Amino acid sequence: MDKLIIDGGQALKGVIRISGSKNAALPVLFAALMADGDVILENVPGLRDIHTTLKLLTLLGCDSRFRGEYVEVRAGDLVPEAPYDLVRTMRASVLCLGPLLAKLGRARVALPGGCAIGSRPVDLHLRALEQMGARFDLDSGYIMGTCQRLKGAHIIFDFPTVGGTENLLMAASLADGETVLENSAREPEVVDLANFLNACGARITGQGTSVITIKGVSSLKGCRYRVMSDRIEAGTYMVAGAITQGDLVLSNCPFEELEAVVAKLREMGVHIEKEKSGIRVKPNGQLNCVDLVTLPYPGFPTDMQAQIMALMCVADGSGMIKETIFENRFMHALELIRMGARIKLSGQTAMIRGGARLTGAPVMASDLRASASLVLAGLAARGRTEVRRIYHLDRGYESMEQKLSAVGARISREKE
Ligand code: EPZ
Repeated sequence: MDKLIIDGGQALKGVIRISGSKNAALPVLFAALMADGDVILENVPGLRDIHTTLKLLTLLGCDSRFRGEYVEVRAGDLVPEAPYDLVRTMRASVLCLGPLLAKLGRARVALPGGCAIGSRPVDLHLRALEQMGARFDLDSGYIMGTCQRLKGAHIIFDFPTVGGTENLLMAASLADGETVLENSAREPEVVDLANFLNACGARITGQGTSVITIKGVSSLKGCRYRVMSDRIEAGTYMVAGAITQGDLVLSNCPFEELEAVVAKLREMGVHIEKEKSGIRVKPNGQLNCVDLVTLPYPGFPTDMQAQIMALMCVADGSGMIKETIFENRFMHALELIRMGARIKLSGQTAMIRGGARLTGAPVMASDLRASASLVLAGLAARGRTEVRRIYHLDRGYESMEQKLSAVGARISREKE
């Protein structure tokens, strides 16, 4: 296992290029197995989860690989089985369920376990697919799904589930008749998936709102598509610029999709402006803590909660963070406290007393965004921070240490 060594205190200055979105590329890759023809994807990030997905697609009977900076997917004779050994390393593997049922009428997918941030059930996916005619059994930890041709249905989600909306978008694209998804997720990554499916010949409208309509078609064709840039990676580097009192420009960077994050950072006193070369981020002197609640899009994203907590630790005043999406997403707080942060946890609420003078320490990453939070704290801390188990980080951040070193951070990767 690798670890990151960070000697803090450097103000980051320069340009960071934002990579393609992990959470848009993953569902698009699974949707590609539904196309009768070659799919060429651009702006796909070179991440651990992407390589895991390409491996799974190959097991499912697709020829899928990176060709230079593109990913090519060519579906062959599909094998509807997603093995536990792969699924347990990446929960998003459950996104093969909709496509396999739509294409083949059967699927055997390992039930994804929970993870550090929560139990992560998939009951909303299954219940909605059952409304479309699928039947599920649970056998030795595998979901066994079967159906004749899926039928259009009127589905109302109990919760605007991102993965559930994505699975149903894919399933409904090849179903017989019209499907309406109500209380569906509005995340930009869901919109990107819908736009990709439409580029393959699907007939989806309403993406980005909470009511999406899908008119089933008989087949989908191959296409060439550019995946959106990663708004969470971009938000993470905005915090890196702010926490080091630096002056960063983020290129290839989404902006409109980051409205809630930009609003909160501006409220803290971070100067963020759109310029020709990209999004410019620099603090305006002292930063202040704020209160925030994580919510489904367009609210403040849970995937940015750990990162902004690190920033609040060194800002003035005190602030409250309420995590409403996942039941156990404060693991990073315990490690930040070891670096001198002043945080009190009570259930789904964290109270942060700012003004801490963070000191470097050996810390342990527990999940993807917690790892990012610890790196950000290490950039601001006095002394050396060692972030261990950074395989978590490699799942969602492409070449983080290279991107940070290029703008002045003293960061390197070492074998544990
Ligand atoms: C997606 O996860 C993202 N992952 C997560 O990003 C992100 O945090 C999450 O959406 C929320 O925005 C990918 O896109 C690959 P959900 P997903 O279904 O689809 C409950 C990262 O850091 N729920 O919207 O799993 C669930 O337990 C990752 O990049 C059910 O109860 O999120 C959770 O509490 C972490 N039953 C809440 O809904 C279900 O059937 C949100 O889950 C499905 C979900």
